Amino acid sequence: MSIVTLIARKRRGEALTPTEIEAFVQGFTRGEIPDYQAAAWLMAVCCQGMTSEETTALTLAMARSGRQIDLGDLADRAVDKHSSGGIGDKTTLVVAPLVAAAGLPVAKMSGRGLGFTGGTIDKLESIPGFRTALSPEEFVAQVRRLGLAVARQTPDLVPADAKLYALRDVTATVDCPPLIASSIMSKKIAGGARHIVLDVKVGSGAFLKTLPAARDLAGLMVTIGRQAGRRVAAVLSAMDQPLGGAVGNALEVAEAVATLRGAGPADLRQLALTLGRELLLLAGAAPDPATAEERLAACLDSGAAYEKFCAWVAAQGGDVRAVQEPERLPRAPHRQAIRAPTAGWVTAMDGEAIGWAAVALGAGRTVKDAPIDPAVGFVFRAKIGDRVAVGETLAEVHARTPDQAEQAARQVIQAITIVPEPVSPPPLVHTVLR
Ligand code: URA
Repeated sequence: MSIVTLIARKRRGEALTPTEIEAFVQGFTRGEIPDYQAAAWLMAVCCQGMTSEETTALTLAMARSGRQIDLGDLADRAVDKHSSGGIGDKTTLVVAPLVAAAGLPVAKMSGRGLGFTGGTIDKLESIPGFRTALSPEEFVAQVRRLGLAVARQTPDLVPADAKLYALRDVTATVDCPPLIASSIMSKKIAGGARHIVLDVKVGSGAFLKTLPAARDLAGLMVTIGRQAGRRVAAVLSAMDQPLGGAVGNALEVAEAVATLRGAGPADLRQLALTLGRELLLLAGAAPDPATAEERLAACLDSGAAYEKFCAWVAAQGGDVRAVQEPERLPRAPHRQAIRAPTAGWVTAMDGEAIGWAAVALGAGRTVKDAPIDPAVGFVFRAKIGDRVAVGETLAEVHARTPDQAEQAARQVIQAITIVPEPVSPPPLVHTVLR
């Protein structure tokens, strides 16, 4: 089968067969199809789309590209969650230890930053020593011992996604529903957990900007998961502005730790409780939503979730002192306040522009496999609906150099709209598909 023919057929909008899709995935994973041809194929998919049958075939071929994790007797209780990507979305860092503290085994495979969004693996790796490349045996043993493991794709685990993800990141082929669905669901299927909650983000800081588009993506992923024998729910959550205040890897870890210690932003706490609640309900670990949330709030407030986070960091080789004293996390040398140019109410924040400004500071990649700077990013003080005075601090930029800070500050000011009349804050969660 010629890869040039597959690219050309996809470019013309033809549907490929499962056999052709399998051949593409295998050829690319084994290194027989070079990056430039894979990139052309990805771009053709972005431009022409895929049928749901093609997307399912792509997902299953990717899930089969490495070993699939067998959680054995844990599988029936084990849970997993995944976000479709957003700005400041450090939810996994809170939800995973929270749900594990509530007694459910959490077995999760995560990704790096993608396009203008951050990724859990980059965030975790900003903790000195934290190891995200676990073998399937280490992964299962840790879930059994600690009740929680998060790993990245490796040559053993969903290698097709590791390679395609890195290529999509730098070829403008990220915001494409069949590629997002197959990337997420291949990791969820290979990860072995039976219960999966998808956090499908919608808004200016998400890949999908409208509710109908996000609903379609959620429906597609739920269908693929159910076809693969998983119990799946999807939470459609708002990404009209950064979640919490921090955007940037180590800054987000510090904010997640604050949330686990009871001092984090209200929206992050609430979204973590919502996603955790859906996991407990799916796994049959709580009789109703209110009981599930109460139980999780108790785990947060008692410090049990924070203790679990520390144990998780230690289990994966991370320096727990950087969690206990977050000032030990990587810190950027230059900080600058970004001040409101006019008085009024914050009515809009262009999340995508803020994400690209973070990438330009070094928090994400513009070239495949490039190193990132864990320390840089933003801490937002103002949210949509807040009233601000002229010169009030909207955000703080953490940068390597004063020039980079200045440039980022200009981009953030452009990304924030302030109007003279009061505005209401947007909802945090639009709807839940169960
Ligand atoms: N998360 C993933 O794992 N893949 C995507 O394509 C988007 C978000």
